[in-house]
Amino acid sequence: MTDAFTLDCDIALIGCGRLGSALVEGWLATPGFRAERLKIIEQFETPATDHAKAAGATINPSPDQLKDVGVWVLAIKPAVWRDALAPHVDVMGKDAVLASVMAGVRLDDVCEAAGGRGVARLMPTTAVAQRQGVAGLYSPHQKAQDVATALFEGMADVVPLESEDLLDPATGVAGSAPAFVYAFIQALAKAGEAEGLTADAAVRLARGALRSAAAGVSGGQSLEDAIGRIASKGGTTRAGLDALEADGGAERAAKAAVRAAVDKARELSR
Ligand SMILES: NC(=O)c1ccc[n+]([C@@H]2O[C@H](COP(=O)([O-])OP(=O)(O)OC[C@H]3O[C@@H](n4cnc5c(N)ncnc54)[C@H](OP(=O)(O)O)[C@@H]3O)[C@@H](O)[C@H]2O)c1
Repeated sequence: MTDAFTLDCDIALIGCGRLGSALVEGWLATPGFRAERLKIIEQFETPATDHAKAAGATINPSPDQLKDVGVWVLAIKPAVWRDALAPHVDVMGKDAVLASVMAGVRLDDVCEAAGGRGVARLMPTTAVAQRQGVAGLYSPHQKAQDVATALFEGMADVVPLESEDLLDPATGVAGSAPAFVYAFIQALAKAGEAEGLTADAAVRLARGALRSAAAGVSGGQSLEDAIGRIASKGGTTRAGLDALEADGGAERAAKAAVRAAVDKARELSR
């Protein structure tokens, strides 16, 4: 991740729904981001378009205001992407690139619909809004990869992938995984209740554990080091970890969850 926004071109965002709004909030919170360079194409005004407009962005710009756009971000639903993109292709500069965050839409299809321009596919998490996101990225086009990386790295850890198919496991391990972690935290709270804690105390303690765990790796520490700082030989944490790992329990549960998410993603994109 970087501390400042460095990309020096106009940006067009098509679609400012849940993910588009998170991107807008993340960009606006990134030092060095110039809101006047952001052009948002969206059917209805939202709190994020209002915020962006107040900061200097243009909402539903004219074709003339789009001529200097260097990167077009596609954040619309897969079902409507062709109709949403088509009206803008003639306006695109010949060197413009596209960054698609759409799940299940193949890169080659976007490239073809955009007149052969370079495309990067990314799968970001909505924590981009707090500049705490992570995004798997795949692109066979060097310029699109560079531009998309610069576009996202102020608000996400951008993880390059070697093939497009790896976006599915990347989504299982990052995009869906916060929900897997919350489910585990819920189970921990229930386990605390079973040991005599009140429901309220168990949930507060488990949520606190989640915050503490995130803080423990916020400086980029390895997961092994983070575990090693808490678990001493022969201690209570080690005993708990041994129980968690017995018969491959934690690993088996994680594999099953990621496998199911990958299978579903592939089924949906067929
Ligand atoms: N949400 C996530 O956590 C997440 C994470 C990773 C990737 N994604 C991907 O991001 C994309 C958007 O997902 P989302 O959850 O943000 O969906 P969403 O909330 O439905 O947002 C899509 C937005 O695009 C607007 N739109 C539709 N047609 C348009 C057009 N022709 N021109 C301009 N705007 C148009 C929609 O407006 P209306 O509501 O009026 O139709 C809506 O505000 C999807 O492809 C999804 O796969 C989402």
